[in-house]
Amino acid sequence: WIQEDVRDKLVFVLESLSFPMDEHIMEMALMGDAIRRSAPKRLIAVIPYLGYARQDKQHRVGEPVSARVIAEFLGVSKYKEVITVDLHNDAIVGFFQIPVTHLSALDLIAAELKKSELVNAIVISPDVGGVKRARNLAYLLDVPMLVMEKKRYLDRHDTSESFQIIGDVSGKTAIIVDDVISTGGTINNSAKSLKEAGAAAVVVVATHGVLAGDAKEHLNTAPVDQIIITDTIVISAEKKISKLQIVSVAPLLADAISRLVK
Ligand code: R5P
Repeated sequence: WIQEDVRDKLVFVLESLSFPMDEHIMEMALMGDAIRRSAPKRLIAVIPYLGYARQDKQHRVGEPVSARVIAEFLGVSKYKEVITVDLHNDAIVGFFQIPVTHLSALDLIAAELKKSELVNAIVISPDVGGVKRARNLAYLLDVPMLVMEKKRYLDRHDTSESFQIIGDVSGKTAIIVDDVISTGGTINNSAKSLKEAGAAAVVVVATHGVLAGDAKEHLNTAPVDQIIITDTIVISAEKKISKLQIVSVAPLLADAISRLVK
């Protein structure tokens, strides 16, 4: 029940589509319907984390393309525009029939990384899908990058193993960059492979801290010195560990919103 007068106003609904995703998406859809019945000037969804984005293709015949379903659902929920952060894959923007402002938290993350002296640093993409992200971060930090090859077992939910490094990391500070830390398995396995290959230190950066299942345990035991994520998803107190640092995306969202308000 929207009790404010929203007639002719620019209305922003801010909600992360994080766990419980299905409740959050329904909340957004019903809010969208309630607001549009009060004749706003424009209704804009601000979604710091777009749940289901990782299911952006059929990995096997018979699977849904969930990211596309969510994009269509937001459109039919009468949102006229979407502002979001670091989608799993840039092509997801094309799933929407409405304009999408796709922001990147990499500048904020790079600024945070620059606060510590990272000796002989190299940016690592833990899989081939993340090469562009790694290249962009490497450019911001003015350091080289390399890519790892990750094998995911589709018959074992949320499990990845088998990491191969394509390049030399010995004696270097390896900065793994990813869009999401979910179970922490990718981070744990890639950090172990990097250490075995002689990396002097491993730092992890990611935009979205889904932190599902055994993530806390995986991150605690991973041979990682520092982990930087953002607050696109609220991190509860019990999930926080000492090497986890959280950077706020509020300035990023505020900037995007203020550009539409002007
Ligand atoms: C996969 O393609 C993503 O970019 C992340 O690497 C993945 O979602 C991380 O999941 P987890 O933390 O469960 O390994």
